[in-house]
Amino acid sequence: MGEKRILCVGLVCLDIISVVDRYPAEDTDTRCLSQRWQRGGNASNTCTVLALLGAPCAFMGSLAPGHAANFVRDDFQRYKVDLAHVIMHPACALPISMVISNSTAGTRTILHAASNLPDVTDADFEQVNLSLYKWIHWEGRNASEQVKMLQRVEEYNQTCSESQRVGTSVEVEKPRQELYQLFGYGDVVFVSKDVAKDFGFCSASEAVKGLYRHVKPGATLICAWAENGADALGPDGQLVHSDAFSPDTVVDTLGAGDTFNAAVILALSRGRPLHEAITYGCQVAGRKCGVHGYDGIV
Ligand SMILES: Nc1ncnc2c1ncn2[C@@H]1O[C@H](COP(=O)(O)OP(=O)(O)OP(=O)(O)O)[C@@H](O)[C@H]1O
Ligand SMILES: *[C@@H]1O[C@H](CO)[C@@H](O)[C@H](O)[C@H]1NC(C)=O
Ligand SMILES: *[C@@H]1O[C@H](CO)[C@@H](O)[C@H](O)[C@H]1NC(C)=O
Ligand SMILES: *[C@@H]1O[C@H](CO)[C@@H](O)[C@H](O)[C@H]1NC(C)=O
Ligand SMILES: *[C@@H]1O[C@H](CO)[C@@H](O)[C@H](O)[C@H]1NC(C)=O
Ligand SMILES: *[C@@H]1O[C@H](CO)[C@@H](O)[C@H](O)[C@H]1NC(C)=O
Repeated sequence: MGEKRILCVGLVCLDIISVVDRYPAEDTDTRCLSQRWQRGGNASNTCTVLALLGAPCAFMGSLAPGHAANFVRDDFQRYKVDLAHVIMHPACALPISMVISNSTAGTRTILHAASNLPDVTDADFEQVNLSLYKWIHWEGRNASEQVKMLQRVEEYNQTCSESQRVGTSVEVEKPRQELYQLFGYGDVVFVSKDVAKDFGFCSASEAVKGLYRHVKPGATLICAWAENGADALGPDGQLVHSDAFSPDTVVDTLGAGDTFNAAVILALSRGRPLHEAITYGCQVAGRKCGVHGYDGIV
């Protein structure tokens, strides 16, 4: 049967990326250095990285018909990401993001489109055969629905032996009150720099210490902080830290956070210790910052 899969639940979109060497001034006409289409969305990016790291994985999210969606589907297949749990919405359109990527500074400026694509619901998730997965990761979106999904995994875990249980992680990325209920679920909670700042914290170590009381007993809280690396706090109360691993030149940080999450999830799902997992996360995310896209990370 081989290794059980990792499932990522969240969004897929199309990113149209224009690479420039300096950010354009308004109302000017600039030729960009290069332009590419790239499958995007946090959970979708996390799947890409898991696949590149050699972990069997699946994506669960909503998809619509059209050119953008066809591109995205082909790209998932190119990386051998399982799409059995994709939910089709024939009357909707896939969201497209325009990204201006500054290759000199490594920054990315993103314009999102509002989307009419509904999020995955608990009813969709009920169709998932949990025994096929060893880990499920949620990108925090429709939190009240996602809480129901997490509770379903909790109930499932109570019915099976330790080795058959499904590990869970959630990412709280956007500073939105509704998402904060997700802190209380999941064996691992990833909190972003943006959210940490929203709570008034100025570093990853402050954030994991200050927010730890919101996670469930026994859970691990992890916060990545760009070039400062990442910090984590687990049930043993030990704060662990990894420095960032900066590439010679930072050319593209788009998806660095998703890359970090993927590498950490893979390490933890294989039973590695927390400190080793966040160090691995920073190594892989650092390599990602040195290349455009993801193909150069392994
Ligand atoms: N400029 C950088 N130099 C080196 N490593 C970096 C840099 N930016 C991010 N990283 C690595 O990526 C990890 C994740 O960083 P962070 O979550 O801040 O990324 P992000 O900018 O939010 O990325 P995304 O575009 O996915 O949101 C960090 O822990 C670090 O290891
Ligand atoms: C792009 O990079 C150049 C060189 O570092 C910098 O001067 C400029 O401010 C950057 N633009 C943005 C929007 O980050
Ligand atoms: C779930 O998957 C397991 C393992 O492949 C299989 O034995 C079982 O029949 C499946 N359950 C359902 C309801 O499909
Ligand atoms: C969350 O999902 C429910 C059920 O599909 C839906 O009614 C609700 O509008 C969604 N909320 C948001 C914020 O998307
Ligand atoms: C599922 O089982 C694992 C392994 O025992 C446990 O650590 C975890 O808390 C459970 N997860 C959920 C969401 O119940
Ligand atoms: C998730 O995706 C959004 C949009 O592309 C991006 O702004 C955000 O930084 C990503 N989060 C992480 C942790 O990578």
